[in-house]
Amino acid sequence: MPRLGKLFGVGVGPGDPDLISLKAVKVLNSVSVVYCAYSPKNSYSLAREIVAPHLRDDVPLVRLDFPMTREKERLQQAWSRNAYQIFHTLRDGKDAAFVTLGDPMIYSTFGYVMRAIKEIAPEVEITIVPGISSFQAAAAATGRVLAEAEESFVVISGAMGARKLKEVAGVADTVIMLKVYKQYEEILQGLQTLNLSKDSVLVTRCGLEGEKIIKDLEGPNGSIPPYLSLLIIKKGQRKLRG
Ligand SMILES: C[S@@+](CC[C@H](N)C(=O)[O-])C[C@H]1O[C@@H](n2cnc3c(N)ncnc32)[C@H](O)[C@@H]1O
Repeated sequence: MPRLGKLFGVGVGPGDPDLISLKAVKVLNSVSVVYCAYSPKNSYSLAREIVAPHLRDDVPLVRLDFPMTREKERLQQAWSRNAYQIFHTLRDGKDAAFVTLGDPMIYSTFGYVMRAIKEIAPEVEITIVPGISSFQAAAAATGRVLAEAEESFVVISGAMGARKLKEVAGVADTVIMLKVYKQYEEILQGLQTLNLSKDSVLVTRCGLEGEKIIKDLEGPNGSIPPYLSLLIIKKGQRKLRG
């Protein structure tokens, strides 16, 4: 039997093709197959676009479908089905990479896939290559310091609206909220209720064509932002801006 191939979880950065690491490129050049996640509703994968120029011609870039749903059973089926597909490659002695936007350990499908593969074969060797996360790129693009001295920052999901924001706003100096697009209106209302609208900045498509940095969230709300949008909420920005 051939040796079991190795699996790499590779962060490819937040979108700007120059923000992929040398290590990620090295790994992508060493593996036999590269996997990336797709949602059947959305046939586009930014991670795929970022890595495509770095792959050898003989390395297949394989899409794995993951449903955009909260139904636990459908999700588990997808994690398991895709984990088996990856495992079959590893079982043939081939190394594989699973590429993920930003960092693989932050709100990524990779975490679920990794656990599902460990259930199938605990002996599989898994190496994670970190990526620059979307919020780090957004902090750079906006020039907002996320934390200094004794300050703290938290990263939360806005998928369920402003609920989490209300929980953490009182304890962290900076709140970063990813996945804001679906519940955007409710989140804006939450910011207003907490008197944080002026302290917030919305960053959309950071590092990509059509990037937007919207600093005034108190004015007319405009349209719902796209999927690639996040908020940085830094208390005291109002004072800093005078
Ligand atoms: C499933 S999470 C993936 C997070 C990713 N693993 C990371 O480290 O940034 C998807 C969310 O990340 C944020 N995101 C990713 N890339 C972005 C970009 N280029 N500009 C703005 N937000 C981005 C958005 O909030 C989006 O809804």
